[in-house]
Amino acid sequence: MDGLARLWRSTVGRKALVAASGLLLWLWVVLHVAGNLTLFSGPAAADGYAASLRRTPGALWAVRAGLAAAAVLHVAGVVSLARAARAARPRHQAQARRASTVAARTMRVGGALLLAFVVYHLLHLIGGFFHPGFHPGHVYDNVVGGLRPTWVASIYLAGAGLLGLHLFHGLWASARSLGIWPDRAARRRRPAVVLVSAAVALGFASVPIAVLAGWLR
Ligand code: HEM
Repeated sequence: MDGLARLWRSTVGRKALVAASGLLLWLWVVLHVAGNLTLFSGPAAADGYAASLRRTPGALWAVRAGLAAAAVLHVAGVVSLARAARAARPRHQAQARRASTVAARTMRVGGALLLAFVVYHLLHLIGGFFHPGFHPGHVYDNVVGGLRPTWVASIYLAGAGLLGLHLFHGLWASARSLGIWPDRAARRRRPAVVLVSAAVALGFASVPIAVLAGWLR
């Protein structure tokens, strides 16, 4: 805890914490996409997978607590770094300010919308809110029935798109700002960053698309 507080006090330390918590959330998101793909193997596979996660409640709640802590650290770090950058920027660098603000604002607005999506998603598929046919434990039916209205599937498609953009910007920005990749190496790795971010977004989007197309019913 002491080490964490010491890291938090310096800008580089806070950047490292934002990047590390982002990476943790990234890894979890990849596991979530893999879990979602069990939906394509039918109700028994999807419901069985969800049930297997609940069989070890201790581990499930430890992962949930870790995720929540990482999310809080990530958002608090981003907000605090943005405030520090605004305070430190010389007034005469108006153009640089405008350019960096557009990228940073896109990332912040996108991040806030993504957070709003996650809250809606948890209420919808775990809480059963705004979901007339919800039955706890029937994950396959809850997903397929819940995403059948086009407007709901559109929200999930938008969530997948937002996540893809956020992953891309986040991975790119943290590798650059922490100096993990020197300029030339970063440019060479950009297509790989685009590819993995797009693969995760497509993995998430595949579910609402399959429900809308009638492949999952
Ligand atoms: C777009 C397609 C998505 C589908 C079809 C989907 C589906 C699901 C399902 C079926 C569950 C588990 C419900 C249960 O266990 O009863 C779940 C949980 C969850 N999802 Fe998603 N999800 C999607 C996107 C996302 C995205 C983009 C995020 C975050 C960036 C996300 C974050 C979560 C979280 C935090 C949980 C709770 C996990 C837990 O139980 O601890 N989901 N999702």
